Amino acid sequence: MISFARGAPAPECLDGELLADCARAAIERDPSVLAYGPGGGYAPLREWLGARHAVDPERVVVTNGGLQGFVFYAEELLAERPGRVLVEAPTYDRPLKILARLGASVVSVAMDGEGLDPEALERELDAGETSFVYSIPTFQNPSGRTLSTVRRDHVVELARSRGVPVLEDDPYGLVRYEGEPLPSLHELEGGELVTYASSFSKTVAPGLRVGWFVAPADLAARLEARAVSNYISPPFLTEATIFELIDRGLFEPNLERIRGLLRARRDAMVGALEEHLSGMATWSEPEGGYFVWLDDLPVDASELLARAEAAGVTFVKGTDFFPDGAGARCVRLAFSYASPSEIVDGVSTLAALLRE
Ligand SMILES: Cc1ncc(COP(=O)(O)O)c(C=O)c1O
Repeated sequence: MISFARGAPAPECLDGELLADCARAAIERDPSVLAYGPGGGYAPLREWLGARHAVDPERVVVTNGGLQGFVFYAEELLAERPGRVLVEAPTYDRPLKILARLGASVVSVAMDGEGLDPEALERELDAGETSFVYSIPTFQNPSGRTLSTVRRDHVVELARSRGVPVLEDDPYGLVRYEGEPLPSLHELEGGELVTYASSFSKTVAPGLRVGWFVAPADLAARLEARAVSNYISPPFLTEATIFELIDRGLFEPNLERIRGLLRARRDAMVGALEEHLSGMATWSEPEGGYFVWLDDLPVDASELLARAEAAGVTFVKGTDFFPDGAGARCVRLAFSYASPSEIVDGVSTLAALLRE
C-alpha cells in the first residue's frame, strides 16, 4: 500500500545511530534524567526553548508531544472560559476528536489559499462567547496552507480587541523547503493571549514524544500542574536526548537533512499532480510541512478512497477534517512518508481512477 494517509516522517528522516549516541551521552552527562523531576520538563531544554522564544523558562512547558499539550490546554481553557472553540475549516482531525470528547461546541471558520479568513473569524467572535481559537497558521494540517503576514496581523488585532485566547499550533514551521519564515502569531501578539505550541516530532523524531507550549505564566503553571497530576513527570531521557543533540550543534544540520528528504517528496507530489491531475482537481502548493490538499474533485472522496485502497493507495478523506461533514470533494495527501517514486506511482494511480 502506498500511504498518503500517514502524517509521519519517512523512515530515512530518523537518524537512529545519532539519537542512540545522544541518549547514551544524555544519561552519562546527567544521571538524574532517570529519576522523577519537574512536571514541566527537563530544565536545560526548557531554558533553551525559553531563550529561543525570549520568555522566562517557567513559561515553557515541555509536554509528551504537542497533542498531549493540546488536551491540557483545552481542558484548562474550557474550564476557565466556557464557550465555543473556533477552528479552521478544515483543521487537524485529532483535536476535533479531543474537543468532541470534552463536550466542547466547535465552530469552523472559513479559510482559503491565504489561510484563515479574518473577516469570517470576526463574525464568529461576535456571534457568541468564545473559549479559545485554535489555529495552525503555517503549513497547516491538513491543507498545507500558510496564513499570510497581513492576515496574521489581522488575527492578532482581533484577539486583542476581543480579549480572546488563541492557541497557535506550529509543529511544521521549521520544516520549510523554500521562502522566508513568517512571524508567529505569538511573536506578533507578545504572548499574553497567544499560546504557542510546537514539537520535535517533525524536526527530530515523533517517537521521542517531545512537544512544548509557551504560555502566559499563570497558564503555564496550570499546564504543568496537569502534567504532574497525569503522569508525575515527563520522560526526561528523550527530552535530554534532544537537548544533547542541540548542545552538540547538530539540531540544525539534522533538520537540514530532513528538509532535503522531504523537499524531494514535496516536489515529486506537486510535479505528479501537475502531470496527472491538471484539470481534474485543484491543490495547494506548500513551501513546507507534510501535506497537499486536493479540492474540487469530480467524485466523492470516500468513494475514491474505497477504489484507491483496492488499487494499493491510501489517503485521508476531507470530511475527517471538518466538524460538520463538509469537505466531501477534498482529500489530504501526505507526501512525508512515501518515497518519491512511490509518490509518483500513487498519484498516477489516483489519476487513472479519477478518469474511469
Ligand atoms: C497540527 C499538528 N499539531 C500537533 C500534532 C501532534 O504532534 P506530536 O504530538 O507528535 O507533537 C500534529 C501531528 O501530526 C499536527 O499535525
